[in-house]
Amino acid sequence: MARIIAGVTSSHVPAIGAAIDNHQTEEPYWKRVFSGFERSKEWMRQAKPDVVILIYNDHASAFSVEMVPTFALGCAAEFPPADEGWGPRPVPVVKGHPELAAHIAQSVILDEFDLTVVNKMEVDHGLTVPLNLLFGSPKEWPCPVIPLAVNVVLYPPPTGHRCFMLGRAIRKAVQSYPEDLRVVVFGTGGMSHQISGPRAGLINSKFDKAFLDNLSKNPQKLARMPHLEYMREAGAEGIEMVMWLVMRGALDDKVDEVYRFYTVPASNTAVGHIILEPHRGKKAAGKGKKPAGKLKRAAARAKAEVRRSK
Ligand SMILES: [Fe+2]
Repeated sequence: MARIIAGVTSSHVPAIGAAIDNHQTEEPYWKRVFSGFERSKEWMRQAKPDVVILIYNDHASAFSVEMVPTFALGCAAEFPPADEGWGPRPVPVVKGHPELAAHIAQSVILDEFDLTVVNKMEVDHGLTVPLNLLFGSPKEWPCPVIPLAVNVVLYPPPTGHRCFMLGRAIRKAVQSYPEDLRVVVFGTGGMSHQISGPRAGLINSKFDKAFLDNLSKNPQKLARMPHLEYMREAGAEGIEMVMWLVMRGALDDKVDEVYRFYTVPASNTAVGHIILEPHRGKKAAGKGKKPAGKLKRAAARAKAEVRRSK
């Protein structure tokens, strides 16, 4: 039976992709960002997921404003990188998992979440940048990826509660898939950012850090947060964080936070990254390896490296 082994959040700003593509990751500005993901890549190598379900938003690459689905599930066998104006990013074609995707579509739609089924789609930085941050830059992505595009670009986006409940339905779908697959769910975008207008460049670290705390321990509180609060506190594009609630809804109520990284700015956004695993319980946590402790120490090392690179 398939199961969700972890949830991850990650920034997806295009400038991070450009820094990778233009070999600027060692420059002090970018090293500060990438160093925070070094241990996450190591965690991912150990986690070895069979499939990733990646929640992101399309930035008018696959869907123009003429047609914007609220939730669109990628059911194709592959998803080529989109040309966003500078040619497609030099990243591998994303291979899908049509069987699991079709199963999710059926289960979730019968659970009354009306997903759009997409059988042909190009994917932009919203999907490929998080893959780079967690998998590096391999010749082929190490596992299939099922894209789930959420509309956060054209009013009205879905509510946080709807996203959270969709995550719940996705979890039920995954758990009823007969093949033994280890699945990691990504929630991408955020954190606080405002791209245009008088508040352009807005960063609200206090709000962001409280959001990360609640994502880990009290996601129901976040699920009740109205759109207006995201926009007032985190800027117009801060609304992207509703997508994280799809990921969180797909996990158990109780989770173990095994790693967290936060830095500002990247381009004009705050970068928030967290890895959540199903709660192991005190007894289980006392046995065998202790990834949480290891990764907490890794977080401290990443912080020290950030301080040195300033
Ligand atoms: Fe975005």
